[in-house]
Amino acid sequence: MSYNPEIPRTRYDNYGDREWTRLTKDGPGELLYQVHLDILQRYTKPTDTVLEIGAGSGRYTKDLVTMCSELTVADLSSHQIEFNQSKMQELSLADRIKAYHVLDVLDMSVFEDASFDTVVCIGGVINYLLDKETDGIRELLRVLKPDGILILGSMSFIGASMYYLDGIRYEKDQFGIEATKWIMNTGIQDEEHYPVPSKHYVHMMRSAELDALFAQFPVNILERSSAGLYTQAGDAALANARGDQEFWKLIVEQEIAFTKLPGTLDCGMNLIYVVRKL
Ligand SMILES: C[S@@+](CC[C@H](N)C(=O)[O-])C[C@H]1O[C@@H](n2cnc3c(N)ncnc32)[C@H](O)[C@@H]1O
Repeated sequence: MSYNPEIPRTRYDNYGDREWTRLTKDGPGELLYQVHLDILQRYTKPTDTVLEIGAGSGRYTKDLVTMCSELTVADLSSHQIEFNQSKMQELSLADRIKAYHVLDVLDMSVFEDASFDTVVCIGGVINYLLDKETDGIRELLRVLKPDGILILGSMSFIGASMYYLDGIRYEKDQFGIEATKWIMNTGIQDEEHYPVPSKHYVHMMRSAELDALFAQFPVNILERSSAGLYTQAGDAALANARGDQEFWKLIVEQEIAFTKLPGTLDCGMNLIYVVRKL
C-alpha cells in the first residue's frame, strides 16, 4: 500500500479535542509526554530556531515555544492547526509563534534548505508515510541546518504488540493467521493485508528499521529512547500507581531512565531518535 495523505488528514481533521487530552488523561499518555518533554528540554537551546512538524493540537507546542527563540508550527490537518492556534491564544503564547503552516512533511518547499537548528517530528507522522518514509526523512533533513538536530518519534511495533496482544488475538478471528503473521513480521497495518475498519493504516516500526532508514543519510544518531515502557504494566496497575503521588513521581523518573537502556528500546509504545545532521 502506498502513502495516502487523505488517511491521516481525515483522521486528524475529525479528531475534536482528543489530541489535546491524549497526553494528560491517563498514565500511558503522561508517560509518553514526560519522556518526550525530557528529550525536548535536553536538546533545545534558547537561541534555536525550531520547526515542529505534525504538531497536532499543541501539547508540545506550548512547551517548545518557551524553550527556543523562534518556533514555526506545521501540520497536515487544518483542524489541528486551528485547534493549536486557539490553544496558544488561550495560553497567551500565540504571539511567540513565528508562523503556522498547513503542509505535508513530504513537501515543505515553503522552507528554504537549512532553515532550522532543530526539527521536531514526534507523535507518529513517520508511521503514515509507508513507501515514502525515506522521502520524509530526506525532507526533514533538508530544512535542517548542518549540525542541526532532528527529534523523530515513531510508534513502536514490538511494544504495541505486547500492549494490544488481546486485540491482535481478536483480529486474528477476523483477518486470519496469515494476516497476523504479516503484521507481526512487518508492523504494517494496511488495506491489503490487515484491513482494520478504522482505516488507521500505519507502519509501526522496530528500532532496526529506524536504524536502516537513518543509515541512508549523513547523520549521527545521538540518542535512541523508548517511551511508554511502564505502560506494559497494564491500565489498572498504572492507574493505581498514578493515584499515589510520591510513587508516581518515582515511576516517571524510572521511566525516563529505563527508556534509555538498549535492552528496553523496542518495548515501549513509542521510539524516539535524536540525530545530528552532518
Ligand atoms: C498523533 S498526532 C501527534 C501530535 C503531536 N506531535 C504529539 O505528539 O502529541 C499526529 C499529527 O501528525 C499529523 N500528520 C500526520 N501525517 C502528517 C504529514 N504527512 N505531514 C504533516 N503532518 C502530519 C496529524 O495531522 C496529527 O496532527
